[in-house]
Amino acid sequence: MALVPMKQILDEAVKGNYGVGAYNVNNMEQIQGIMRAASETKSPVILQASRGALEYTNMYYIKYLVQAAVEDNPGIPISLHLDHGNSLQTCKEAIELGFTSVMIDGSLKEDSKTPTTFEENVKVTKEVVEYAHQFGVSVEGELGTLGGIEDGVGSGKVMLTDPDEAVRFIKLTGVDALALAIGTSHGAYKFKAKPTLAMDIINAVQAKLPGMPLVMHGSSSVPQELIEIINKYGGNMEKTMGVPMESIQEAIKRGIKKINVDTDGRLAMTGAVRKYLAEHPDAFDPRKYFGEAREAVYQSVKGKMEGFGTAGHAGEYEPLTLEDMKKLY
Ligand code: G3H
Ligand code: 13P
Ligand code: ZN
Repeated sequence: MALVPMKQILDEAVKGNYGVGAYNVNNMEQIQGIMRAASETKSPVILQASRGALEYTNMYYIKYLVQAAVEDNPGIPISLHLDHGNSLQTCKEAIELGFTSVMIDGSLKEDSKTPTTFEENVKVTKEVVEYAHQFGVSVEGELGTLGGIEDGVGSGKVMLTDPDEAVRFIKLTGVDALALAIGTSHGAYKFKAKPTLAMDIINAVQAKLPGMPLVMHGSSSVPQELIEIINKYGGNMEKTMGVPMESIQEAIKRGIKKINVDTDGRLAMTGAVRKYLAEHPDAFDPRKYFGEAREAVYQSVKGKMEGFGTAGHAGEYEPLTLEDMKKLY
């Protein structure tokens, strides 16, 4: 199976009313851990690379590592998605590299820090949609801004999405999926206590545009046991909380279909490496501790595929190619 357009994965998720995780990847162990979980649970999956990931992997490594995942897992629909593209140029580069989906985060300027106006966001998003759809590539936009700053990305200010603006935005731009700001933020330090998310925004958009796939960024659950492992083995993370699985499930029922997860994978890997090295001070074979990290990613993602309801849906549809999708736009 070739890489599939993200639109198909999300449209199928709408039909089946389940969520699909979009997992950030930067290296082979993350990809293998995620793919083992997808293969065992028979889950469609979105592998996403940020601009930081493209820089870290020198672009080609991401492309071919994901290609390896495709060849190794012929029965699993996989989409390769650009996370938080900051300009038309970045999206063009990803499309040229073979990505089947791009996000243009027009909620922020090209510096990925300064919030834009609605009009500026519409303009750049529309340009990306017009460009990407010629190639059958799916596009995710974002309206509203998340809290938190991850590696310099984000304004740090929360601006929840206005549902009426979201509806206008979708109609004006033609995006295939829209990320809403409903109170989550990127990174490990999201909340001090159990959060209350602005779930009504999801319903308000769905009421006007039923079946529109919506996206939740900042969806890591920051499991306490992972923080404990990290701290037990020499780490120093402060008390923090993420988005509980029940809240994600509630969001999925209301219309969120793509769930972005990066931090939980980072925590799982960090805990596993710290634990292994602390318990084996004489170890120096990276396959041992990276192997543990890969296992921890697998465990984390498997739980999410089951929790989001993705499990079991991989074989339900014939995958579309970008050529097929081109004709459908
Ligand atoms: O939304 C941001 C993701 O967590 C990606 O993070 O830019 O450090 O790869 P990154
Ligand atoms: P987390 O930091 O909660 O994992 O969110 C990741 C994300 O939204 C990537 O776009
Ligand atoms: Zn994000």
